[in-house]
Amino acid sequence: MNVAIYLDNSATTKPHPQVIEAMVSLLQENYGNPSSLHAMGQQAERVITKARRDLAGALGVKEKEIIFTSGGTEANNMAIKGVVRAYGNRGRHIITSRIEHPSILEVFRELEDEGFRATYLEVDGDGRITPAKLAEALEPETILVSLFHVNNEIGSINPLPELAQVLSQRGRQRPFFHVDAVQSFGKLPVRPARWGIDLLSLSGHKIHGPKGVGALYLREGLAIPPLILGGGQERGLRSGTENVAGIGGFGLAALLAEEEREGALPKVAELRKAFLERLKGSGCRVNSPDNGSPYILNLSFPGFRGEVLVHALAEKGVYVSTGSACSSRARKQSHVLESLGLSPAEVAGAIRVSFSRRNSLEEAKKAGEILAHVAAELGEFMG
Ligand SMILES: Cc1ncc(COP(=O)(O)O)c(C=O)c1O
Repeated sequence: MNVAIYLDNSATTKPHPQVIEAMVSLLQENYGNPSSLHAMGQQAERVITKARRDLAGALGVKEKEIIFTSGGTEANNMAIKGVVRAYGNRGRHIITSRIEHPSILEVFRELEDEGFRATYLEVDGDGRITPAKLAEALEPETILVSLFHVNNEIGSINPLPELAQVLSQRGRQRPFFHVDAVQSFGKLPVRPARWGIDLLSLSGHKIHGPKGVGALYLREGLAIPPLILGGGQERGLRSGTENVAGIGGFGLAALLAEEEREGALPKVAELRKAFLERLKGSGCRVNSPDNGSPYILNLSFPGFRGEVLVHALAEKGVYVSTGSACSSRARKQSHVLESLGLSPAEVAGAIRVSFSRRNSLEEAKKAGEILAHVAAELGEFMG
């Protein structure tokens, strides 16, 4: 293995060196329990307060609207289950899209088993939910709409302010709006309060922070029951002794990502362009929409299997994935690509290349060259 180029940043990112340094220091020196009354408890509590302030600042929301969780999966579960438990007496209809992360879709399936009716919206050719599609699906009984901001497999971007507008037109019957912003936070502007979003999920490890920590934005005035009961931490909404080092690391990662976000967007677009230029004539099809997030590039090499490409690239030190990290382990065909109407050969031959603001242009160019080479070699081998 001669090079190591990590282009699987939608699965997870490398923790930022400053985040690692801060977390080591927290683990070594700031190990008090935030609930303890003494000085060490207070010192730990201050770490959480600062991280909450930094996250609230990045989203333009109030500090008390941020609840720390164990990650994006828990935030998604908490939001959806919380809303239907608190407001299920108003109606039994819930809406999401066909191309959500499993931490949304599996919860919807469970709620269907419990007697809720679910609508799974189809996306348009660009992998987005249009305001008209959402308007069509709304019923007087609809209590919750849960949609992604950026799709984790193809990078399509939902028009959130316009979708929220459709919900507002319902007046007093307006359903709650939950957004999974795990793949957009720190990369694109995310403004839940301004856009009319009630709940929004975040994850630390997608933005060069630690794994096992995330957050839910819960609009002030909205009361949902907790998933986890116990000592009453996080205003009773998420019990369990706080992951102080993780929360501190997440807060710092968010701060760094926000500081660099605007400059990073054109840089990442440049990486993607340079990568794609190296693939001209390789026979690949770009599955990601042109108007999507530049951070995620889904490609198909019809005739090949995505896993074979992923392994061949890994042997040369380039790390990418098929679809999403979870679906690649489960070896299921991508529900996202199937929903986009790709042929079975295109679905089977898909890989996802995901960039970070911390990748260099050299890495993108080199990885593109290696992929072109690997595809040509495999093509020859298969005759
Ligand atoms: C869109 C989306 N939502 C939710 C998650 C889950 O986040 P976490 O790994 O923090 O549980 C992921 C990551 O896998 C994701 O890409």
